[in-house]
Amino acid sequence: MLSSFLLAALSATASATNLFVSSYSGNVTTLSLTETNGTVSLNSSFASSDCGPNPSWLTLDANRGLLFCLNEGLTAPNGSLSSFTVNPDGSLTHVQNQTTISGPVSGVIYGNPAGRRAIALAHYTGSSVTSHLLDGNGQFHLGESFTYNLSQPGPDADRQDAPHPHEAILDPTGQYLLVPDLGVDLVRVYGIASNTLKLTELAPLEAPAGTGPRHAAFYNPYNVAGEGATTYFHLATELGGTIISYSVTYVPNGGGLTFTQVAEINTLWLFNHDRINAPAGVLISPDNRFLLVSNRNSTLFSLPNPDSSNSTQIPADSITTFELQKDGSLVFVQLWPSGGLYPRQFSINPSGTLLAVGNQLSANVALLSRDPGTGLIGEPLARIPLDGNITCVVFDQQGAGSA
Ligand SMILES: *[C@@H]1O[C@H](CO)[C@@H](O)[C@H](O)[C@H]1NC(C)=O
Ligand SMILES: *[C@@H]1O[C@H](CO)[C@@H](O)[C@H](O)[C@H]1NC(C)=O
Ligand SMILES: *[C@@H]1O[C@H](CO)[C@@H](O)[C@H](O)[C@H]1NC(C)=O
Ligand SMILES: *[C@@H]1O[C@H](CO)[C@@H](O)[C@H](O)[C@H]1NC(C)=O
Ligand SMILES: *[C@@H]1O[C@H](CO)[C@@H](O)[C@H](O)[C@H]1NC(C)=O
Ligand SMILES: *[C@@H]1O[C@H](CO)[C@@H](O)[C@H](O)[C@H]1NC(C)=O
Ligand SMILES: *[C@@H]1O[C@H](CO)[C@@H](O)[C@H](O)[C@H]1NC(C)=O
Ligand SMILES: *[C@@H]1O[C@H](CO)[C@@H](O)[C@H](O)[C@H]1NC(C)=O
Ligand SMILES: *[C@@H]1O[C@H](CO)[C@@H](O)[C@H](O)[C@H]1NC(C)=O
Repeated sequence: MLSSFLLAALSATASATNLFVSSYSGNVTTLSLTETNGTVSLNSSFASSDCGPNPSWLTLDANRGLLFCLNEGLTAPNGSLSSFTVNPDGSLTHVQNQTTISGPVSGVIYGNPAGRRAIALAHYTGSSVTSHLLDGNGQFHLGESFTYNLSQPGPDADRQDAPHPHEAILDPTGQYLLVPDLGVDLVRVYGIASNTLKLTELAPLEAPAGTGPRHAAFYNPYNVAGEGATTYFHLATELGGTIISYSVTYVPNGGGLTFTQVAEINTLWLFNHDRINAPAGVLISPDNRFLLVSNRNSTLFSLPNPDSSNSTQIPADSITTFELQKDGSLVFVQLWPSGGLYPRQFSINPSGTLLAVGNQLSANVALLSRDPGTGLIGEPLARIPLDGNITCVVFDQQGAGSA
């Protein structure tokens, strides 16, 4: 049985809802989400291979109907950035393609929403951060690039052999770009010049050695951002398996950010320390009350559905939900199967009733129900197999969150 809040959310949006999925197979696929008589379906309605051989990340510009796709270029010397227009039926029309420094894995649009804008990319294998100026119709050109060196490997010699920028995110005011760098245990901080969109490197956040910062989320408990406002930064470390929470202070006159650790959760506690875990995505729910984290390589078995006679259990990794506290700490709410293995990235719809998870190694997208009141996630409503390693899934709706 679907709960009434979910049915209401679906009937309000079902006819118009699409999801975009990237896969290392080379396809970017549009999934249409429909509900008939209480049964939710995900169907593939379109696929494009125009992004390149290894799509790793999608950044949606819902206001302008544009989708940016990053091709990691796993077996090539370079990666690439592509743009598409999103058509009313959810299909995609390729606009532009440009070769980049190798290994782009995350991108974020910054600048003036109504004016000059750019997309910043984190390049894992290329040890770089680049920015590309956007024209509003999907055309773009390279602005700047920053490439980093390492004099000696970090504590994890395999993964910390070089700088490895893993995500590009903005602070809540949009004045700063932050880039967790897994290879060197830093979160790089850049000031954004509001007129030219040029980036100026400022003092980074130094994470504990060997932890491998991957993804992060800012939290303003009073919904006020900027200098003087209470601000926290929740950082997921892939190698350390921790969520480290920092209180953030704005240095006056655009001088940067300072960070003071206020809490830390070792996610292995959730698994009684009997396995490894590599946290990936971190997302704050649209109502600003919960933090969700995807856990990889710490496999649970799916719980039987309490409302069904089918008690088959499939192996799955998990999503953890924490309740955000006003002192910057996190209170555990739920550990729940993600619907498949290696949930690399996931997204939440604007009303907070649906979670779409890209399970990289099960090659599926799982759509899970979620109760926005309690923050509790439920059984998969639908699960669709797709070719290749799933790297990213985003809702087509404005206000949807993606981690
Ligand atoms: C990409 O999608 C098309 C259309 O659905 C399909 O025919 C093709 O097999 C897919 N290719 C890969 C590599 O997944
Ligand atoms: C929906 O359910 C009603 C009542 O059970 C049934 O009459 C109808 O045929 C169903 N429609 C579809 C499309 O399955
Ligand atoms: C969508 O997928 C469901 C489940 O796989 C299937 O039953 C249904 O016929 C499909 N609908 C369309 C329009 O392809
Ligand atoms: C975009 O660039 C990638 C990498 O060079 C290439 O594989 C892909 O075919 C290009 N797409 C188009 C539409 O030219
Ligand atoms: C392609 O990769 C090479 C080698 O890493 C690099 O020097 C070059 O700048 C890259 N090309 C572009 C357009 O970024
Ligand atoms: C990085 O290393 C290369 C090769 O070792 C060197 O040429 C370059 O000057 C270094 N760059 C920086 C910023 O240290
Ligand atoms: C999962 O963990 C095991 C060690 O328990 C490791 O050997 C393996 O490489 C990991 N797999 C992935 C896909 O990270
Ligand atoms: C029970 O669920 C499993 C996993 O989703 C599925 O493979 C199987 O077909 C289901 N069995 C029945 C009888 O519905
Ligand atoms: C995709 O995942 C499989 C494991 O399911 C792995 O063996 C393969 O190397 C992966 N391919 C790419 C291109 O990452």
